Amino acid sequence: MMANNTVLITGGAKRIGHATAKYLHGFGYNIIITYNKSVADAKKLAQFLNNKRADSCKILKVSFTPKTNFNKLSKDFIKLFGRVDVLVNNASQFYPTKIHEVNNKNWDDLINANLKSPLFLSQCLSKELKKRKGCIINIIDIHIDPPLKDHVVYNISKAGLLALTKSLAKELAPSIRVNGVSPGAIMWAVSDENKSSKKKEILSRIALRKSGNPLDIAKAVKFLITDAEYITGQNINVDGGRKLNM
Ligand SMILES: NC(=O)c1ccc[n+]([C@@H]2O[C@H](COP(=O)([O-])OP(=O)(O)OC[C@H]3O[C@@H](n4cnc5c(N)ncnc54)[C@H](OP(=O)(O)O)[C@@H]3O)[C@@H](O)[C@H]2O)c1
Repeated sequence: MMANNTVLITGGAKRIGHATAKYLHGFGYNIIITYNKSVADAKKLAQFLNNKRADSCKILKVSFTPKTNFNKLSKDFIKLFGRVDVLVNNASQFYPTKIHEVNNKNWDDLINANLKSPLFLSQCLSKELKKRKGCIINIIDIHIDPPLKDHVVYNISKAGLLALTKSLAKELAPSIRVNGVSPGAIMWAVSDENKSSKKKEILSRIALRKSGNPLDIAKAVKFLITDAEYITGQNINVDGGRKLNM
């Protein structure tokens, strides 16, 4: 992968996507960020990166809904820099749905953001990625196996994303490599930020006894892009050893 190659990161205005964008930009990549509600954060990040290197970051407002036109969207992405070399499916919805709470609305919401969008973006960008000998990286979650209690739809969406990763790795080979990165406790969900006993309990089950950093995910993504020519269909858990005690 060479400088001026373009990485598209969905939901990259904040948190893990933001850190990944900044990190990859430091290696010479052009960056496309999609944002939905976080317009101010997206603009600030673009300004920061464009100050470092002119015209190196572009942002696009994208809301993944049942009506999203992925074909048109993919053409819009390619137009921004004339190419897309890497697709990072990072955008995600995360909240509990106990079994009796599951309904069409939260099903559509979670499945659209976490599973349907990665599938259709991969489909619509596959010709472009093939041309560029590019790759797809899906940001999954260690919690799909074992599943997270009371999060049935989220679990399904992320388990589906792992199945998608492996299916696409087979189907798009040998031109496009497709891999997953599964974060453990990297950034607390906004709803958990003030729950100190819950955080303590989670930390006690992490072998390395600390939460991770968004940069840990960014580094795994960078590895899969630049140093993993012979790796496809894999899922890397970046979790400080949490899976050892799940
Ligand atoms: N945080 C962790 O420790 C952790 C743990 C396990 C897995 N993960 C996975 O790692 C990835 C990044 O995590 P994160 O915590 O940084 O993510 P996040 O903050 O929960 O979400 C990332 C972005 O996704 C965008 N998004 C959500 N729904 C959307 C929709 N329907 N249409 C368009 N954009 C949408 C949002 O953009 P706007 O803000 O612009 O609306 C949001 O900023 C996710 O895939 C997550 O599931 C994270």
